[in-house]
Amino acid sequence: MAPLDRIARSVRLFGPPRDPRLPPGPSLPSVAQGAMFVLQIVPFFERCRARWGSTFSLRLPAHPPIVVFSDETAIREILAWRPEDFDVGTAYAWMEPFVGRGSLLLMDGERHGRERRLLMPPFHHARMQAYGGAIRDITRRAMEGWRIDRPIEIEHAARIITLDIILETVFGASGTDLEELRRAVLDLLSDFSVFNIIEALRIDLGPLTPWGRFLAHRTALGRVVYRLIRERRTAGRRDRDDVLAMLVEARYEDDTPMADEALRDELITLVGAGHETSTSALAWVFQCLAHHPDAQQRAHEEVARAKDADAELPWVDAVIKETMRRHPVFPLLGRMLKRPQTIGDWHLPTGTLVYVSLDLTHRNPAHWDDPDRFDPERFLDARPRPFTYIPFGGGTRRCIGMSYALYEMRLIVAEALRRFRIERVGPAEPAMSRGFTLAPSRGARVRLVRR
Ligand code: HEM
Repeated sequence: MAPLDRIARSVRLFGPPRDPRLPPGPSLPSVAQGAMFVLQIVPFFERCRARWGSTFSLRLPAHPPIVVFSDETAIREILAWRPEDFDVGTAYAWMEPFVGRGSLLLMDGERHGRERRLLMPPFHHARMQAYGGAIRDITRRAMEGWRIDRPIEIEHAARIITLDIILETVFGASGTDLEELRRAVLDLLSDFSVFNIIEALRIDLGPLTPWGRFLAHRTALGRVVYRLIRERRTAGRRDRDDVLAMLVEARYEDDTPMADEALRDELITLVGAGHETSTSALAWVFQCLAHHPDAQQRAHEEVARAKDADAELPWVDAVIKETMRRHPVFPLLGRMLKRPQTIGDWHLPTGTLVYVSLDLTHRNPAHWDDPDRFDPERFLDARPRPFTYIPFGGGTRRCIGMSYALYEMRLIVAEALRRFRIERVGPAEPAMSRGFTLAPSRGARVRLVRR
């Protein structure tokens, strides 16, 4: 690299200079802000809000200027932006090696709308019952083996369930296919570290380097996925009900099918986005139930009264929704401005990276009474104001797996409440970044007692 390029790059590493047009924010060196952003995002953002209010700026190494928002009025405007106003592919570029260039999560503009229309039908809420059998069977089988009367890490135990559920419902995988996929996904997830997220640290010197291992694992997963796509194209649908069967048959508006590479990226996206998030959310639900025995007892009684497996469970649903308010697992919605925007008094230039903090929004005292109190009553027979509660995002990019995730979590939590009393082990665990999500720092350790 030429000396001038190297200097230019290191200046970028120390972040952009402060832009006086943007809201105020911490004056710490950008490297320090970057470290807190990665390691301690919840307390770091809390301190920023205490000092500067619900809107503040950050400077992170190798990032454009960042402005964080967390109030209803700003979020209403941000989620109404049109596709030509912003770019998500740049905001989430760090995910690309994991999900692939052809992932819905990274697409923008026309292409995003076209792909989204193709991917949504398998996740329509009317289709959820079709997945119920697989969700229940996998959950029951796994819970038979859960350790009783001694501390257990729910995050680990729940991942085994949610991964098998997504692999079975997306790929229709079973037997050796399931085992091979499970291994390949877990290998890839084990590579999630700063060495593979930060572009400047991605160095491939073979299997001894994190990036080298990552590339090998990514190729291995791609190989299994391509094989399953090929087999499915040859065998045809044969009354299969899984997402792959639907996507192989799906057609864009111009009647073309999805290419193999596009299918691979979307399938890996669905597996990643669809199980990592639910795993962390379930870990938080178990932690909240363990620390709020009254809420748990009421949930258990509701489950015990239920007449059939698909009965409505309003209190269990309220517990899950309140947990996702108090502990959102997706930390930030990111939007890179492609043209200037005005939000309130702030004129944001092109190239500003706008983040919406879900945690600060969900705990904004202007939106919620006593926001740090865990209180599922907030969601019983009541709906929050639309832009004060956004665990699944909103607008044109709202999560396509929302109904799926809520249904899956309801069935898993209900099965656990039927079998176990969930007891706390030690103090409540704070949030820590885990892959794409925020999860309890020690994996949500609880003790299960058989009912
Ligand atoms: C508790 C579980 C989940 C949470 C909290 C969650 C959260 C989110 C959020 C906040 C977004 C919006 C990102 C943005 O606006 O920038 C999103 C998008 C997305 N989610 Fe989820 N998600 C969950 C489960 C799932 C599941 C089960 C699937 C699929 C099987 C899924 C697939 C996706 C996809 C493909 C997108 C991109 C949508 C787009 O850009 O048009 N998610 N999710």
